[in-house]
Amino acid sequence: MKILRTLASVILSGLVLAGSCGCGRQAGVGEDQTGAGSAAGMDREKTDQPEAPETELQGQDCYINADGIVIRRGRQLTIGFSQIGAESDWRLASSASMENTFRIDNGYNLIFDNAQQKQENQIKAIREFIDQGVDYIVLDPIVETGWTSSLREAEEAGIPVIIVDREVRPEDENLYTAWLGSDFRLEGDRACAWLEALLNETSADGPVNILHIQGTMGSSAQIGRSEALFDAAKKNGWNILQSVSGDFVQAKAKEVAENALKQFDGGIQVVYCENDNMAYGVIEALEEAGITPGTRVSRGEVVIISFDSAAEGLAFTMDGKIAVDTECNPLYGPPLSRLILSLETGEQVKKKNYYEEGQFSTSEGISTVTVDGKEYPVTMVTEELIRKRAY
Ligand code: AHR
Repeated sequence: MKILRTLASVILSGLVLAGSCGCGRQAGVGEDQTGAGSAAGMDREKTDQPEAPETELQGQDCYINADGIVIRRGRQLTIGFSQIGAESDWRLASSASMENTFRIDNGYNLIFDNAQQKQENQIKAIREFIDQGVDYIVLDPIVETGWTSSLREAEEAGIPVIIVDREVRPEDENLYTAWLGSDFRLEGDRACAWLEALLNETSADGPVNILHIQGTMGSSAQIGRSEALFDAAKKNGWNILQSVSGDFVQAKAKEVAENALKQFDGGIQVVYCENDNMAYGVIEALEEAGITPGTRVSRGEVVIISFDSAAEGLAFTMDGKIAVDTECNPLYGPPLSRLILSLETGEQVKKKNYYEEGQFSTSEGISTVTVDGKEYPVTMVTEELIRKRAY
């Protein structure tokens, strides 16, 4: 089924990014269509939801398909995409989302560059995209700082730069066109609010000792999630035994956990892992040491806090090995195609575009958490939810 709409009505119906500038925590990009986080609503590949109708745009040589992807019939657009690497399942899902969206038969030419975790490779890729005369540069920056010169080079060449996932902090915010991604600080705040509720519920006596395994230092995902923990620890009197980077990688986190288990022998109640893959590594380390991941702190179980909510992470959550998994959405291909459509048609776009994200657990007592006076749902993980998960 195809319906006909004007571009403006598509913007109003939330299918295209629309604007308010700045820093609020607003939904809009990945509006939740499932009541359980936005990701499932954004990529229908594995879901059994009824398909959204295709939307023909009046006066435009393109339409929006059932997956929310803008399909172009007219001039092909060339997109240069600098991806960080392949460190996690989340990262693989984000690469797949970009490749599925910006396909030749959808009217795009995607030049995909894998930077192998090196900022210098991303800087080089941006320069190459400029030399190739791409229509748009899309950058997922490994860290927040060090981009001013590259962004200036793109600006001088007249090529718009769209930042996705992590953020940049250039000298001048006008050096990039828009950003689309997650509110990492809010993710961390929600995770810590959940931990606070759990510890209140279980009336855990004695000190709460936390092993903190960080993501890539200097990345927005690490900064937001770490700062949330530091503030919550101060507020609640939690003791952070150690903050060590595992670079978002499973094997590195396992090694960090193994060393910490030797060093703090029996003294760890919580492991705060800044992504799912690192949580998988920690689960392996705990189980090999004969320690049970769970939520019964008084019985010696270790509480694992994780982020991403990939299908495997949710399966561990269902088994009770991850106590709470806070969603981070990697499926930015479709909303990015809509953002680009807005730019192509001269529509005003928001500078910062936040996903609406979910949080998952199997602890029945905690159905919501409150952050800055706003209540957020905590969704019970079910087999059906995992089966329908798009990443
Ligand atoms: O920037 C997003 C983070 O990077 C995800 O949490 C993590 O899994 C990824 O590697």
